[in-house]
Amino acid sequence: MGDNLRVDVVIIGAGPAGLMAAMWMAVTGVRTLLVESRPQGTHTGRADGLESRTLEILDSFGLADKVWAEANHTVDIALWSDSVDGFLRREQVSANTEPGWSRFYESTLGQGRVEELMMKFVQSGNHVDIRRATTPTTLEIDHSTVKDHKAYPIRVTLEKSVPTTFVEPGILGPRSDTSTPSSESSMASSLADSAISGMDTVVEAKYLLGCDGAHSWVRKQLGVRLEGESSDHHWGVLDFIPITNFPDIRKRFVVKSKYGALMMVPREKRLVRVYVELSPMASAQYTIQQIPDIIMDQVAEIMQPYVIKSNRIEWYTTYKVGQRICPKVSFHNRLFLAGDAIHTHSPKAGQGMNVSMQDTFNLGWKIASVVHGASPPEILDTYAQERLPIAQRLLKLDRRICLGMCSDEKETRMSRGKFHEDHKHALREENTLFAGVTATYQRNLLISPSSEAGDSKGAPFCSRTSLSKAIILGARIPSKLVLNQSDSQAHHLQQCFTSNGQWDLIIFGGDISKREQLNRINRLAEALSHPVSYFQQLNKASRARGAVGSVGVYLVHSANRNSIDLLGLPEIFRPHLEDGSIEYTRVWVDNESYHHPGGGDLYKTLGIDQDGCMVLLRPDQHVAFLSSIDDVHGLEGFLRSFTCL
Ligand SMILES: Cc1cc2nc3c(=O)[nH]c(=O)nc-3n(C[C@H](O)[C@H](O)[C@H](O)COP(=O)(O)OP(=O)(O)OC[C@H]3O[C@@H](n4cnc5c(N)ncnc54)[C@H](O)[C@@H]3O)c2cc1C
Ligand SMILES: *[C@@H]1O[C@H](CO)[C@@H](O)[C@H](O)[C@H]1NC(C)=O
Ligand SMILES: *[C@@H]1O[C@H](CO)[C@@H](O)[C@H](O)[C@H]1NC(C)=O
Ligand SMILES: *[C@@H]1O[C@H](CO)[C@@H](O)[C@H](O)[C@H]1NC(C)=O
Ligand SMILES: *[C@@H]1O[C@H](CO)[C@@H](O)[C@H](O)[C@H]1NC(C)=O
Repeated sequence: MGDNLRVDVVIIGAGPAGLMAAMWMAVTGVRTLLVESRPQGTHTGRADGLESRTLEILDSFGLADKVWAEANHTVDIALWSDSVDGFLRREQVSANTEPGWSRFYESTLGQGRVEELMMKFVQSGNHVDIRRATTPTTLEIDHSTVKDHKAYPIRVTLEKSVPTTFVEPGILGPRSDTSTPSSESSMASSLADSAISGMDTVVEAKYLLGCDGAHSWVRKQLGVRLEGESSDHHWGVLDFIPITNFPDIRKRFVVKSKYGALMMVPREKRLVRVYVELSPMASAQYTIQQIPDIIMDQVAEIMQPYVIKSNRIEWYTTYKVGQRICPKVSFHNRLFLAGDAIHTHSPKAGQGMNVSMQDTFNLGWKIASVVHGASPPEILDTYAQERLPIAQRLLKLDRRICLGMCSDEKETRMSRGKFHEDHKHALREENTLFAGVTATYQRNLLISPSSEAGDSKGAPFCSRTSLSKAIILGARIPSKLVLNQSDSQAHHLQQCFTSNGQWDLIIFGGDISKREQLNRINRLAEALSHPVSYFQQLNKASRARGAVGSVGVYLVHSANRNSIDLLGLPEIFRPHLEDGSIEYTRVWVDNESYHHPGGGDLYKTLGIDQDGCMVLLRPDQHVAFLSSIDDVHGLEGFLRSFTCL
């Protein structure tokens, strides 16, 4: 027989969800096995859109520069519909991403390329063992040890599949569903392989993540199903280089004409991606012939009187729209499902890759914290508490966009060529509320109660949400340009907070050139620096565990930067490094930059007054606690509630 392995975490599936989880394990040093049935990565097709928050997340791992440079940035969205005389006309053009919400905006880059960059990141560490062309065959849970988080109650058997028998679907040939490579075919080949070699690997693990897509094998083993509607509307998807006289071809656009509806998104090179509803006749025809021309003809009909054709079709597929959700995503706080394994929906709201990555961005650091002993296993409850509402909201939005895009049998030909008001609203929300930047988690073990929301009865600590208008408890911290106190170099506040498993405390110190305000900062620094303070004890314990669960401290003040001497500030804001020099990246100023627009209005935009406030960020940059800079007691009380020394 084959080898036996013991790891902390097994991840099944190396799509966007599995790779994001693996990135967390790589940066926090958690022994992990990443199992993927495909021998190689995704090449063509699938998702291609990245929303602002996804880019911010990739940036926190240092990956956004590459993605941003290679991606095509989708600035505009245009809506086209039938005019009174039946001619197609542009109804409106607007920003495809709400300006000012993020330093990034919506972009497109093939899923295969995004996965490749993530995979490289995972491989650059040495904690994640990657097994490609491998599938799990059995999954067992030892219920007698499932509550002991030092035990390894999960047992998975793995088999190697034969790469040569594997054909990646959807590249050149037709396919009739949005599914990932069919597990049946890889399973068959893996059986053939193990019959030859007789090699199995048995893995024992503490945690298992099912990131294996819409047809999740893990989900089936756990005996849960996706619930919801599937629909009869057939949609076609084409990636092609268009030859056209349509003026908005390099914008994202939606057309509703009497012949049907479509959405097009500009892509890398001169490619575009179209999503088009197929008529019943075209659907039937496609089922028989399986050729892209049928989809292309439908596109041409809807776009008339404009001409659109192509000499180069890169990829195509068809699928049925259905909105489905898995009601249970976490089992004994040991096994978790994420990504398409828990929510499927149409790609038109373009949220799948985003939301899938964001699922495991939420989960990964929590598992790492428990593995390192920095937090109790109960923090894992927050995964379902936080992500299920997001999945439900996504499906609701997708349903509205689909209703707007899908022709209704009852509609007359004329009304079909119009945008419904709710469809327009839904599109707008997709680009604002749903660009991921506003995902707000409700009070739980990792989000403090708020005194002002009236949900703090009996809590020994609570947040004072009125101290900032724009910093929302449970949401990710907004970003603005700030300057480094030491050398006045500009960068974005968010860029201070890299994803490494550490928490961060931002002290908005206000105008510290004023004596009274400086005294408050000094008192806070003294309390946090005291050797017997919980803060210091926690950081000492965390350092011994490799920094996961420690708390970094930053000061962002609004005084004239030339009136402040960095070396005169408390040592916690200029900690000494091993070589005797100091860290220069702890103190930031809200001030104009000589060379970059947008500096000097952080306090104003965040709605923080000159008394300042302090904000505790989780390792995923979501705001966990917000209070006055005198409330050390509240801060420490909150930290105590979910950390271990
Ligand atoms: C045509 C199309 C267009 C799309 N467009 C968009 C878009 O514009 N925007 C967007 O956000 N989303 C889009 N999506 C959806 C997006 O591709 C998915 O939401 C996203 O890939 C989900 O990520 P995931 O990691 O959860 O699952 P997947 O990407 O499906 O990854 C699952 C992985 O697990 C592997 N696997 C499966 N079973 C096993 C097993 N038994 N053992 C080992 N490995 C296994 C698979 O090979 C795969 O690599 C689109 C999808 C399609 C099909
Ligand atoms: C992510 O969200 C954006 C904005 O909603 C969307 O346009 C894009 O297609 C999404 N990305 C993917 C991969 O779906
Ligand atoms: C976007 O697409 C256009 C047209 O193919 C191309 O010229 C451009 O370089 C692409 N990339 C970016 C980052 O804009
Ligand atoms: C100050 O911050 C900027 C922006 O992050 C950084 O590039 C620079 O290296 C920092 N300065 C020092 C001395 O560390
Ligand atoms: C920025 O700092 C300069 C001095 O360096 C000061 O004159 C100016 O008022 C500050 N601007 C803001 C917006 O605080």
